[in-house]
Amino acid sequence: MTSRRPRLAAHGLERGAPVTVTVDGRPTTAYVGESVAVALMADGELTMRTTAGGEPRGLFCGMGVCYDCIVIVDGVPGTRACITWVREGMDIARQDGPGYRWADRSGRDAAD
Ligand code: FES
Repeated sequence: MTSRRPRLAAHGLERGAPVTVTVDGRPTTAYVGESVAVALMADGELTMRTTAGGEPRGLFCGMGVCYDCIVIVDGVPGTRACITWVREGMDIARQDGPGYRWADRSGRDAAD
């Protein structure tokens, strides 16, 4: 994957310091000042949760109103990705239905 820094630098903007977060258990780089939603989208993840019926949802309002972007952050389901800022070591999981980890669909175990 190419760095996201050059595109910002071309517009006179500086990105925050890099941090390592995990997305569905996979380590990836995000930057201080980014929302979880931005970090997920920059990492290629447009679906942030599914409804109880299995329909995909992602960023919609981008300002904390619609709850379409909810994910599990550090074990807390229902966290709005668009208004939560990344930090070093954050554990992010896409959310399946009311609070199960995306990767745990078969077992339906609650997020820890
Ligand atoms: S996109 Fe609407 S609450 Fe996050």
